[in-house]
This record gives sequence, C-alpha cells and structure tokens, in this order.
Amino acid sequence: MVPAMSVAPASTGVRQPNPLLTFAKSSIGKKWIVGISGALLIIFVLGHLAGNLTIYIGPYGEGINVYAQTLHANTLFLWGARIGLLVVFIIHIFTALLVARENYQARPQRYAVHKHIQSSIFVRTMVLSGLLILCFLIFHVLQFAFGINGYSHLIDAEGRHDVAAMIILSFHHPLVSGFYLLSIIILGLHLSHGISSVLQTFGLNGRKTLPTVKIAAIIAAWVLMAGFASIPVAAVTGCLKVLPSDKRPAAAAIH
Ligand code: HEM
Repeated sequence: MVPAMSVAPASTGVRQPNPLLTFAKSSIGKKWIVGISGALLIIFVLGHLAGNLTIYIGPYGEGINVYAQTLHANTLFLWGARIGLLVVFIIHIFTALLVARENYQARPQRYAVHKHIQSSIFVRTMVLSGLLILCFLIFHVLQFAFGINGYSHLIDAEGRHDVAAMIILSFHHPLVSGFYLLSIIILGLHLSHGISSVLQTFGLNGRKTLPTVKIAAIIAAWVLMAGFASIPVAAVTGCLKVLPSDKRPAAAAIH
C-alpha cells in the first residue's frame, strides 16, 4: 500500500490575485477607501479649524501669526502633511466618483425601488457638493497658501508674517466673505452626510444606533462649520481687528 503523502499543488503558472487589491476593487472595498480617506480629511479639517481659531488669541489675532510661524518653521512636517493631504484628497475624489458611477450603472431601469433611488440621490448630492468644495479649495489655496490676496506682504509688530491681517482684510470684501459662507454651508452638508456614511460603512448601522449616528454626525458637522464661519463673520462685524499701520514696521503698511 502506498503511504499517504501531502503533495504541494502543482504550480499552474497563473499568478494569484492580491487579496488586498481584489478587496480594493470590490464595491464594498471602494466604500471603505472613500470612508478611510474621508476620515483622514475630517482629521485635517479638525486640525485646520483648531489652527484657524488661534486668530482669536491676542488683540490683533497674533495667535495665528505665531501658529503659522511655528508651522512654517517645521518644513518637513509641513510638506509631509501637504503631500499626504493631496494624495488622500485625490484618492477620495477618484474613488468616490467610481462609487458614484457604479451606483449610476446599477440604478433600476423600469421598476424603481425606493431605497435604491434614495441612495442614488444621496450619492449625486455628495458628488455635486464635493465638486463645489473642490472649486472652493482651489480658490482658497491660491488665496491663502499661495498668497494671491493683496495682503501677504503685511508684517506684524514682531516682524512675523501677519496672517491674521491677511485673513481679516480679505474677508472685508463682501464677495469673498459671502463666497466663504456659502462654501462652508456646502461643506457642512457634505460632512453631515459624509460623517454618518463613514460611520455606517465601518459598522455603526444597527437599527437602534443608526438614528443616533445620523444626529451625532449632523451636530458634529455643523459645530465644525460654525467654527469656520465665525471667522468671516467676526471680520465683517469688526470683532476681529487688524494691527494699525502706525504699529507696523514701515515697509509693511496697509495700502
Ligand atoms: C474661515 C475659514 C478658513 C480660514 C481663515 C482658512 C485659512 C487658511 C490659511 C491661512 C491657509 C494657508 C496655510 C499655509 O500657508 O500654511 C489655509 C490653507 C488651506 N486651507 Fe484653509 N481656511 C479656512 C477654511 C478652510 C476650509 C473650510 C477648508 C476645507 C476643508 C480649508 C482647507 C485648506 C487647505 C486644504 C489648505 C492648504 C493647506 C496648506 O497649504 O497648508 N480651509 N487656510
């Protein structure tokens, strides 16, 4: 009798697909990618808001000038974060559009199923608000990160870049502050849907937990947005003031 032996399967020469790649290409995998990249973007939004709120420290918003100076002194961290943010942002948009396309292709042709229609309206709203946020971000980064605003030459009494004055004076233009407030509302809508959708993708979708998750997401999104909106509102209403010209180094007067 021939003894039983474990024999390794003969190689077929066909490469096994990478399980991670297979998951990433699946419908649920794409939703996870949108969820994880969305969660990372929310962390950025939280950090950015915390940084921006330092504009309320000091009579002329000096807090944000110190914050910006510290951030720009850490070149490696700054550029690492910027490149990471850009990569995550591209992944988020690209995968979200793929999910939207899949959703569109799977839409019912003749016999409308209510749940399906609801979810496709949801995805369409997210795509539209997402694209509007992208337009806002292009304007915003050109204005403040690239300094195309007419006030980026300003220096405060300590010789630092006067980021506070740059922001406050930019918001004195009603079109600029109006555009910001509108964009912040759109971001609030995107986030209140997005946060609850991320939490559901990660399993918080039970019958009992779902209503709480949805309400918590809406509250979280609008608290964040109130923080951002407070800055243009405080600038327009005069609650945030800029350093007067006579207290600045001569080269940095307000024209
Ligand atoms: C009133 C609201 C806001 C103010 C005052 C503000 C201020 C600024 C400033 C001063 C910068 C330049 C930072 C630097 O040069 O390092 C910046 C960059 C940026 N902001 Fe905002 N921001 C606001 C709202 C937002 C919102 C709602 C978003 C969207 C989520 C956003 C996303 C970004 C991004 C992606 C950058 C580029 C990151 C970088 O280059 O460092 N900002 N913002």
